[in-house]
Amino acid sequence: MRKGTVGANALRKEGPDKLTGAARYIDDYDIPGALFGVTVRSPGPRGRIKDVRFDLAFPWDQCVIATAKDIPGKNAVHLLGDDQPLLADGVVNHALEPILLIAHADRATAWRALEHVHVDLEPLEPVLTMEDSLSQKQVVWGLDNVFKDITIVKGDAQAALAEAPVVVEGEYRVPHQEQAYIENQGMAAWFEDGTLVVMGSLQCPYYVHKALQPLFALPPEKVRVIHAVTGGGFGGKEEYPNMIGGHAALLALKAKKPVKMVYDRTEDMLATTKRHPAVVRHRTGLTKDGKLLAQEVDIVMDGGAYMTLSPVVLSRGILHASGPYECPNVSFRARAVATNTPPNGAFRGFGAPQTLFAVELHWEKIAAVLKKDSIALRRLNALRPGSTMATGQVLKDSVSAVQVLDTVVKKSAWAKTRQAHARWNKDPKKPTWRGLGLSLVHHGGGFTGNGEVYLKSRAGVSIDRKGSVKVLAGSTEMGQGASSTLAQIVADALGLPYDSVSVERPDTANVPDSGPTVASRTTMVVGGLLKRAAEDLKLALAKHGGSAKRLCGDALERRFLAEYERAPGMSFDDKTYKGDAYATYGYGALAVELEVDKATWETRLLRVVTAQDVGKAVNPRVVEGQIVGGTVQGLGWALLEQCVYKAGVMQNPRLTDYVIPTALDVPDVEALIVENPFPGGPFGAKGVGEMPMDLPGPAVAAAVLAATGLFLPFLPLTPERIQAAADAAQAEKELVS
Ligand code: MOS
Repeated sequence: MRKGTVGANALRKEGPDKLTGAARYIDDYDIPGALFGVTVRSPGPRGRIKDVRFDLAFPWDQCVIATAKDIPGKNAVHLLGDDQPLLADGVVNHALEPILLIAHADRATAWRALEHVHVDLEPLEPVLTMEDSLSQKQVVWGLDNVFKDITIVKGDAQAALAEAPVVVEGEYRVPHQEQAYIENQGMAAWFEDGTLVVMGSLQCPYYVHKALQPLFALPPEKVRVIHAVTGGGFGGKEEYPNMIGGHAALLALKAKKPVKMVYDRTEDMLATTKRHPAVVRHRTGLTKDGKLLAQEVDIVMDGGAYMTLSPVVLSRGILHASGPYECPNVSFRARAVATNTPPNGAFRGFGAPQTLFAVELHWEKIAAVLKKDSIALRRLNALRPGSTMATGQVLKDSVSAVQVLDTVVKKSAWAKTRQAHARWNKDPKKPTWRGLGLSLVHHGGGFTGNGEVYLKSRAGVSIDRKGSVKVLAGSTEMGQGASSTLAQIVADALGLPYDSVSVERPDTANVPDSGPTVASRTTMVVGGLLKRAAEDLKLALAKHGGSAKRLCGDALERRFLAEYERAPGMSFDDKTYKGDAYATYGYGALAVELEVDKATWETRLLRVVTAQDVGKAVNPRVVEGQIVGGTVQGLGWALLEQCVYKAGVMQNPRLTDYVIPTALDVPDVEALIVENPFPGGPFGAKGVGEMPMDLPGPAVAAAVLAATGLFLPFLPLTPERIQAAADAAQAEKELVS
């Protein structure tokens, strides 16, 4: 029998085009007659637009200008709240908010035009912090600045805390993070026989398709969205393409010509979404042995000026607040609040890295209070098959928390390394202190709660008369390896060679809506649909004696589609947050060994070891790429990346002073793939896109604690911030002595 391709390192479908330069990103398209569009943005964080002045000494007659008045439909970027205008109309709620659009045939002239437009604001007092937003000194959104308020209750946490022999409290704070995809945001738009066509860099063609309809008062069949080769998304191209796509389309409508808009790095960093900053407070009740009795968690996330995806980011955040542990009494509350800062949005992990940082680092505090080993405490409380989660979900298959923990403990030579560090740290001649830290997480695969049911995703395969098979899905390749992974699943379901399966370009005029390319759902959910569709095709082919020509009959091709169906016995209540929050969870553990310089407080990573259960690695090299890439991105959040704000404006919107890790900043990440198959996934596969991002933050903070004795419940741990904490600790010691 022919050996399948699932489990093999099949070559990337898009690889040759990227290597040879044949791949075309949106800015590589030379669109005949196209104008270039730019955006006039708000100079202040909150105010009324009094006037927009245009310098007379500029050739405005060569420009096309679009304002809110030109929008034929509803002036709202369709998402969850429809509260965000495509262009500000009268008031602005954050700095850099788009106010009007300018297009010119020459790109440099278009950029120059921005210097000749002046927006006069009558300033209103802005709300710039989560604390001010919660205090409601100024209401800047709705009635109370709260986009969404979620609670999860199981048992009686208050009563259990009152009786618990040990109660440990902690407050944890995590910052913004920039997605820093390699390709900036960019979209092009034009009208073709009354149909609006938009093409560009994006994760979710059907999100853009849905958002453009109400803006332009067009029916679905008059809007077409085409994916261009996309250089990274990380969530940053989940919702923002709705905005820039709408802008390009509005200019194209007004100009009656194609319009392309491509941001430069600074505009991209200033104006587009970032990871939600969060403050997470824990009160944990335990037995003297360290068994969890109660977890009380309060989460606040900064949503920025408009709702965007904050409610669902918050939802994933609260659903991961427990960490991968079982606790009989739980009381969680999570709020996303409005501030006059650019809206925060999707970023790899989608709320989970924020809450997992808190719960994981909290174990180090608990361990110090109980004078016990934090690894043993984790092992004692870790989720196991049959465990009940905060929502009441009972875990059945593929529960690997203990397995990944033990794998990392063993591979990192935990006890031996710690002993070696103890000796090293005692030696005054050594220039550094060394520490080893660990984290353990779970990560839900697919949309939260009933999300997948509402999405009703469809995906499928086509076969032509010659027997060529194509994958049909709106899921996008953005560098993560979706194309090869999905093609491998289809090839094996059909029993065909990998090379005979290709992937159709995502284009809403040609592929079904397989849902957004987000939430670690593509391999598990879309791959599952494709496998079913391919099995239908295989049956149909067999009925025609294996002849594609006979199967197609008079048609050029035949299509087989499958639609999402929830596994029997699963349910979730959106109101009470009871039930099966996710079909299944991935599990990951990671150990970081680092040293801190005694003189400069600089950190240096010595070793990073991680084990992650992905169910089944359809393409191990792709999975390893996800794990290593996500780990490095998480290490950046933990150690380097800092968005500096002043009056609601990022002060370092460039990669020279917003520092992300390079190859010189991280050692080789030792990635161990664990395969504990999930029966509901194709060939047992679960998601892995986001989980690697959850792990480095708390592991790094734990390692810095082990090295220096400083408990630092925040990120990033830059040398300056470690030093400030060390100075404060020293001052306190002197005060006490
Ligand atoms: Mo994602 S952060 O679910 O694109």
